[in-house]
Amino acid sequence: MSQSLKLAIAGVGLIGKRHAAAMEHMRDVSLSAVVDPSEAGRAFAVRRGLPCFDTLEALFTAETVDGVIIATPTLLHAEMGSACVTAGIPALIEKPLTTRAEDALALVRASEARGVPLLVGHHRRHNPLIQKAREVIDAGRIGDVRAIHATCWFHKPDDYFDAAPWRKKFGAGPISVNLVHDVDLIRYLCGDVVSVQGQAAPSRRGYENEDVAAAVLRFESGAIGTITVSDSIASPWSWELTSGENPIYPATQESCYMIGGSTGAISVPDLRVWSHTGERPDWWSDIAATSLVRENSDPLINQIRHFAEVIRGEAQPLVSGREGLRTMQVLEALQTACLTGTGVTITALDLPEREKTLQFTG
Ligand SMILES: NC(=O)c1ccc[n+]([C@@H]2O[C@H](COP(=O)([O-])OP(=O)(O)OC[C@H]3O[C@@H](n4cnc5c(N)ncnc54)[C@H](O)[C@@H]3O)[C@@H](O)[C@H]2O)c1
Repeated sequence: MSQSLKLAIAGVGLIGKRHAAAMEHMRDVSLSAVVDPSEAGRAFAVRRGLPCFDTLEALFTAETVDGVIIATPTLLHAEMGSACVTAGIPALIEKPLTTRAEDALALVRASEARGVPLLVGHHRRHNPLIQKAREVIDAGRIGDVRAIHATCWFHKPDDYFDAAPWRKKFGAGPISVNLVHDVDLIRYLCGDVVSVQGQAAPSRRGYENEDVAAAVLRFESGAIGTITVSDSIASPWSWELTSGENPIYPATQESCYMIGGSTGAISVPDLRVWSHTGERPDWWSDIAATSLVRENSDPLINQIRHFAEVIRGEAQPLVSGREGLRTMQVLEALQTACLTGTGVTITALDLPEREKTLQFTG
C-alpha cells in the first residue's frame, strides 16, 4: 500500500469540517494540521490533537504536508492558492476558484508554470450519478446533444440570511453561491459554453442580490441551454433536493436536468434514458425510458481520494485549475448579462496548449 498522505485544511468552517469528516473514512490519507486563526478553528484542532496555525506560511515552516485543502472564504482563495503554489504543495481549492476570473487566470498560470497541480472543489463531478450520465452522453446513446434545461430552485428560509449577514450582500446571491455548481456540471456533461444571455430579478426580501435569474447558454457544439435559479421558490427541482447527495436536504424522486439529443434524451439525476422504440426518432412512434441503476457514494470522499491520486502523480485533476477558471468565466458572463441585459461572448483562455503528460509526480 502507498505511504499515507498528510493533508492540512485551511478554514474549518462549514465545508472544511465536512472535508475533515470525509477524511475519517480513508486509510491512506490523514488530517495532520489545521490553518484557521479563529477561536473555533483552534478549538476544532485541539479536540483532534492537531497543530493549528494562523497562516499557511507558518504551517509550511513548521510541518511537512503533502497537500492542502483550502476551505476559507472565497476572497482568500487566490492568495492562499498562490502560497501553496509557491511552496510547491498541491491544493484542493473550494469552489468558486477565486472571486474574479482574472485572479483565477493568474493562479492557473503560476500553478502550470511551476507544475503544482490544483484541484477545484466542484465535488459534484465526483458523484457516480454524474459519471454515469457523462458515460451515456459520451457513448452517443442520445445522439448529438441539442439542448439542455437545468433547474436550480429552492427556498432558503429568512434565518439562513440572518445567521450570516454577508449572505444578504452584493455578490452572495444564488448565481454565485449555488448556480456555479450547476454551470460546472452542465459544462462537464455538455461541453464548453461560448456565449450567454441572461435576466435577473432583484431580491423581493430587499437583499443586495437577485433572487431569481434565467440564462440562455450557447455551447461550442452548437447546442443551446436554458438554466434558471432561485433561492425563493418552494420546489423539489434542484440538484440539492434530487441527488440525495447531502442528508441535510430532503431527497425527492424528481430530476433537475433534462438533456435532449438527436436520438434520445436523459434526465438527471434520476438517470432515465428515453428513446423511440422504432428504428428512428419519430414523434408519432412509441417512446420509452430505461432507468439506469443509480450508484450512490459520497462525492466529498471520492474527491479527496482523487486528490490523493493527483498528489501521487497517478491522475490528472478531474476539475483542474483551468476547468475551475472556465466555469468562473461562464458565471461572470452570466452575471454581466443579467446586469446589462446584453449577450456576453466568453473569450478564449489566454493559456498555452494543454500539456498531455502528468506534470507533477508527488
Ligand atoms: N463544495 C461545496 O458544496 C461548498 C459548500 C459550502 C461552501 N463552499 C465554499 O467553501 C468556502 C468556505 O465556505 P464556508 O461556508 O465553509 O465558510 P465558513 O465561513 O463556514 O468557514 C470559513 C472558515 O475559514 C476560516 N478563515 C477565515 N479566514 C482565514 C484565514 N485567513 N486563514 C485560515 N482560515 C480562515 C474561518 O475562521 C472559518 O472557520 C467558500 O469558498 C464557499 O464557496 C463550498
